[in-house]
Amino acid sequence: MNDLSFNNLKKGFYLLGKNFLFYISRKINYPLAPPDTLQLNINFNCNLRCVMCHMDKKKVLVKKELTLEDLEAFVVQAKKMGIKNVLILGGEPFLWRDLFKLIVFCNEEGLDTTVITNGVLLNQNMIKKIIQSKLPHIHISLDGATSETHDIIRGKGVFNKAVNNIQLLNAYKAKNNTQFPTIGTTFTIMKHNFHELSEVVKLAQKLGIDGLNFQPVVIDNTEPRLRSKSSSVWIEDDDLNKLDTVIDKLIELKKQSRENYVFIENTVSNLNLIRKYFKRMLSPKAQPCYAGFNRLHVTQIGTSYLCDVSFGDLKKRTLKEIWFSKEAKEQRKKIKNCQTPCMQFCSYRSEFYMVKNQLGKIFVRK
Ligand SMILES: C[S@@+](CC[C@H](N)C(=O)[O-])C[C@H]1O[C@@H](n2cnc3c(N)ncnc32)[C@H](O)[C@@H]1O
Ligand code: SF4
Ligand code: SF4
Repeated sequence: MNDLSFNNLKKGFYLLGKNFLFYISRKINYPLAPPDTLQLNINFNCNLRCVMCHMDKKKVLVKKELTLEDLEAFVVQAKKMGIKNVLILGGEPFLWRDLFKLIVFCNEEGLDTTVITNGVLLNQNMIKKIIQSKLPHIHISLDGATSETHDIIRGKGVFNKAVNNIQLLNAYKAKNNTQFPTIGTTFTIMKHNFHELSEVVKLAQKLGIDGLNFQPVVIDNTEPRLRSKSSSVWIEDDDLNKLDTVIDKLIELKKQSRENYVFIENTVSNLNLIRKYFKRMLSPKAQPCYAGFNRLHVTQIGTSYLCDVSFGDLKKRTLKEIWFSKEAKEQRKKIKNCQTPCMQFCSYRSEFYMVKNQLGKIFVRK
């Protein structure tokens, strides 16, 4: 009964209506609805060197780091455009000195903020500051269910640090009697870890994480359209049958209970597409790409960004001017005709996935 409460239904209809506007926007190549999210890529710096990540090599592009004032101005402009969410990432955002001031500012502006982190730098002091800042959501990346796997990808000792810090954060939340920040996690699927998909769900649930999202690896995360046959992170041809078995198990786990159905944030159809993606059988049209409509990106070098093209100087033009600019329009056309088989999370609308999961869970018995 609770699932079908008036408020949930109202929220569901609102999101479906909003999704319809996005659908039409994409058809006519003109944004009728404000983007869901302002994505702030605040730095390239990182304390880790994960095997699949190429952020570090882009550091040379930064002539002058974005300041707190720059970012606050973008937040104000985004709010005026009707944007409701802010996503802060990098690099590693906890290395950026004014992160807490930025979080507090976003809160004061009434935006719902998420920070994505590798979780390694969170110590008691940082966690106290997180709670004090009233950060609504944190995402801590977990790329393995065991230290062997996670550490091959992210470096020695990283798994234990991330897991301990999740536990510490939960202990502080309990002590302060708050459910915030909610803790989400993303698991980037690749050659080294695909065998642990179901195990990481169980681990995340044991750790008291609120939801888990699976994201298949791209060959270069600074150039999302790049596809090449040889890559050290792609699942090997000989393992693709095993991937099928692992995804079957994951879907079974998702359908096992209503709690699991929502906890695993990917929809069943999205999980099925992941196998096609790694087999290089994914059709470019398998999922509509909403890059260019759903998110307004600010890059580390103070430009905007749609898919893999950086354009517009945010010191000279407002976010709104850039969003409705000729360059953005041209880029949207290219995005619509994109021939890259792609499952990047920036290309889909997570709110719609949420609605699909909420509706789908009604049909799960337990
Ligand atoms: C670039 S990181 C920045 C935030 C933070 N440093 C972290 O690791 O969570 C954001 C997300 O991108 C993912 N990522 C990194 N390289 C990737 C790749 N080649 N393909 C897909 N996702 C990738 C990470 O696993 C992480 O979940
Ligand atoms: S994935 Fe995150 S933690 Fe890993 S190197 Fe990239 S930015 Fe750093
Ligand atoms: S599908 Fe969208 S996000 Fe993915 S490569 Fe194409 S344009 Fe870029």
